[in-house]
Amino acid sequence: MSLKDEILRIESSFNSDSNLLKDNQITLDELKYKYLGRKGLLSNLYSLLSEIDNSQKPIIGKQINQLKINISNNIDNLVKKENKIEGQDEKIDFSLPGKKYVRGSLHPLTLIIDEIKDIFNKIGFSSIYGNEIETDYYNFESLNIPKHHPARDMQDTFYISDDVLLRTHTSSSQIHFMEENNPPVRILSPGRVYRNEDISVRSYCLFHQIEGLYVDKKVTFSDLKGTLDYFAKQFFGPKTKTRFRPSYFPFTEPSAEMDVYWGLNNESDYRITKGTGWLEILGCGMVNPAVFKAVEYDTNKWNGYAFGLGIERIAMLKYGIDDIRLLYEGDVNFLRQFR
Ligand code: PHE
Repeated sequence: MSLKDEILRIESSFNSDSNLLKDNQITLDELKYKYLGRKGLLSNLYSLLSEIDNSQKPIIGKQINQLKINISNNIDNLVKKENKIEGQDEKIDFSLPGKKYVRGSLHPLTLIIDEIKDIFNKIGFSSIYGNEIETDYYNFESLNIPKHHPARDMQDTFYISDDVLLRTHTSSSQIHFMEENNPPVRILSPGRVYRNEDISVRSYCLFHQIEGLYVDKKVTFSDLKGTLDYFAKQFFGPKTKTRFRPSYFPFTEPSAEMDVYWGLNNESDYRITKGTGWLEILGCGMVNPAVFKAVEYDTNKWNGYAFGLGIERIAMLKYGIDDIRLLYEGDVNFLRQFR
């Protein structure tokens, strides 16, 4: 038999031998040993090479090399396949320790917003969402803040164009809602607002508010006070004391700010309450009839109150956060604490 025929014979015997693997008549190790081992069929072929005509050696040598490569590749693939099957077995090895997954957490601002929504949901307020990009009309004009009104300076505005801006307060969503819905109204509207303020531990160029709006017949300032007092007691605890101070907002008349009594027990209490023990947490008032006129509500029939709460302030108090910027940096080590 010529060496050429021998190459072909070994090739076909390898093919039929690897079929024997399927029903375990031969193992992979045995197969490997038989063909690629030190005394295997391939190494035998190489030794036969020395006996043939010199002119034939390069051609036949090449064919033997190629056969060796093919067989090695085949065996490598078979090994890989076998490992995969073993891998599958591992999947049902229940004694192996499980993989640990890192659990995320809700952002502290989301936690506060959810809690406040729950408190007001109990007394019939539902939530709506406004737009962060607004026109001058919805953010100012319709809320009784005409152009050149000094009240515009209370909120330093980011303008996108002459008429388009980033809303400076959630009060703009009151107008959208009243344009599309008839009274009575009981809504909350949480969301982001933007003001062009210097960034520091106390202030940032964006923050969050929750707007509240209540419209019905014969609503009184006592209703407003009672509702906000209920909220403060639910949120800060049943013994919480509140007080209302007169204030000014163009879209409410009369207007007020509500403080909660924080106490003066230590140095930090003095610092956050500026030595008074009281902390301002929201602005509020009876809706100015000018606002109802803008949305075509009949002011002889309907009146109501509105309030706007700053979320960051409340979150910082509740969780003892002393730098507002932590709320926007997405630092996992900070956020992990709120799980
Ligand atoms: N929009 C006011 C602010 O951002 C808060 C407010 C809302 C006051 C509703 C009164 C009524 O400061």
